[in-house]
Amino acid sequence: MNNSAIGVYDSGFGGLSVWRELRRALPDESLIYLGDGKNCPYGGRSREEITRFAEEAVECLVSRGVKMVVVGCNTATTAAVEQLRSRWQSMPIVGLEPAVKPASLSTRTGRIAVLATEHSLASDMFLRTASRYAEGVEVIKVVGENFVELVEQDAENTERAAEAVRRVIEPLLNRGIDRIVLGCTHYPFLVPQIERVISGHDIEIVDSGEAVARRVAWLLDRYELHAERGHRPTYEFLTFADEEYRLRLEQKALGIKDVL
Ligand code: DGL
Repeated sequence: MNNSAIGVYDSGFGGLSVWRELRRALPDESLIYLGDGKNCPYGGRSREEITRFAEEAVECLVSRGVKMVVVGCNTATTAAVEQLRSRWQSMPIVGLEPAVKPASLSTRTGRIAVLATEHSLASDMFLRTASRYAEGVEVIKVVGENFVELVEQDAENTERAAEAVRRVIEPLLNRGIDRIVLGCTHYPFLVPQIERVISGHDIEIVDSGEAVARRVAWLLDRYELHAERGHRPTYEFLTFADEEYRLRLEQKALGIKDVL
């Protein structure tokens, strides 16, 4: 038993889509969410830079006494998870990868699209995952241009967002895909917009949030780290940006629980 919090980290607001799944699946667990905010977006940055930010973030969470860290960011996972695990060997660190495996196993057309940041799509980790799990499946890689910025501006329900989503998704409609994998944790905030564009087409959206929550639950069991049953959880929000950003983070978190 361990009532310490689980740390969740992202470049900004995106990891809140993972935070929501953790909160739902593990209602006794306290969560400390760190949304960098100062260096967001990570998508076009170098591996070295992202690794530095990720190490700083985990240091901060560890200084708050977390028992586990969930890197709720595909980009930071691809850049830094191996380094983080070798530096903090005694603490479980969960990374996030685009759900290429379930999408490849379930596609009927043999073609899937993976939406993610530039960095994630170009990473060795993504190449390895795609060649391991998507054998015989055509994987169309697409960067969600401006998606992260829109979510960071709380602008996902605007005409601007609708336009950005149309620009990225419409060209996929006649490519024979039947799965769109959301390989960036910011993108689930744009699901209503994506659904509008794919409506009438036989395409399913595949996200990793629930699978990550299951993995965290499994690790809590394995390392006997679960909080006591009935423990009253606390939810804390931290950032490397300013207090205004931190408050927006908190508001977004508390407002999303039933929305996504
Ligand atoms: N939310 C992040 C991800 O899952 C990164 C977005 C960014 O900062 O570019 O990839």
